[in-house]
Amino acid sequence: DWKMDAFVENTIKEIREKVGDGKVLLALSGGVDSSVAAGLLSRAIGRQLTCVFVDHGLLRKDEGDEVEAIFGPEGQFDLNFIRVNAQQRYYDKLAGVTEPEAKRKIIGEEFIRIFEEEAKKIGAVDFLAQGTIYPDVVESGLGGESAVIKSHHNVGGLPDFVDFKEIIEPLRDLFKDEVRKAGLELGLPERLVFRQPFPGPGLGVRIIGEVTAEKVRIVQDADFIYREEVDNAAAEYKKEHGEDPSWMPNQYFAALTNMQSVGVMGDFRTYDYAVALRAVQTVDFMTAESSEIPYAVLNRVMNRVINEVKGVNRVFYDLTSKPPGTIEFE
Ligand code: XMP
Repeated sequence: DWKMDAFVENTIKEIREKVGDGKVLLALSGGVDSSVAAGLLSRAIGRQLTCVFVDHGLLRKDEGDEVEAIFGPEGQFDLNFIRVNAQQRYYDKLAGVTEPEAKRKIIGEEFIRIFEEEAKKIGAVDFLAQGTIYPDVVESGLGGESAVIKSHHNVGGLPDFVDFKEIIEPLRDLFKDEVRKAGLELGLPERLVFRQPFPGPGLGVRIIGEVTAEKVRIVQDADFIYREEVDNAAAEYKKEHGEDPSWMPNQYFAALTNMQSVGVMGDFRTYDYAVALRAVQTVDFMTAESSEIPYAVLNRVMNRVINEVKGVNRVFYDLTSKPPGTIEFE
């Protein structure tokens, strides 16, 4: 794509001119936007860039290691990569907290605290980089719907807790599809570039009620199986028909209800959790319909989740549209 090629080349040049021999700090979440920003900055200024990646223990299965494989010392980019393993710290903070907004607030505030601690260790930087894209600029200006309904901790004003001179936002003029193209141009893996949206508070909003390490393990494993089966079924369909199936969801994940119920496994009575499967089709994520995943796929997921994930004895499929439901559970 020659246009993206030109964008990448120009942006690298602009970053070099702006940054000079200064130091740049970026909070890397592993999402598409901050990853593309990291890739661009790395190509432009190499080790003048430091990326801080906070693993809050609410990521999808193996996600922290995948981010490290791409951006860490064994990866393909020249930069300083700091991974903060804050899993236990988050679980401690979240212990006993059940109210959704309180959970979101704790997760957001803890991130700021950790980022602040890391920034202090690094010392003064010249620039704070952010993966802000054009729709974020518009959304924060107009106060987007979801920003009002839920406190999105990753769309906000400038952090005032890090000592820096200037902000740098290399993706500010791009739409999401352009960001993805830039990501491919930079050599980021397709599964990162085309990954589905994942909320900043992560599995924290997909575990109804109190978050514990045990519940995180359950939802991670169930979600992994669900995505694997949906992806396989979709790939099979595509191989046969040359296009995505009509039921292909734009976002699909497992969540953990806060419900335990009685079941039977072999000769034993169980009293275990119910997993909820969600899959939605949507254009803008403001409204959504549940996706008509084939029954056979759902059935396979149900069997695998119950057999492979300890602590689960029931699987539900969520049929709710948005509105009245939201896509996430909290
Ligand atoms: P809801 O649940 O509000 O979600 O219907 C709409 C879309 O927004 C995502 N979402 C978030 N994304 N930080 C984010 O970056 C958040 O706090 C957050 N909450 C929801 C959600 O995954 C869906 O794509």
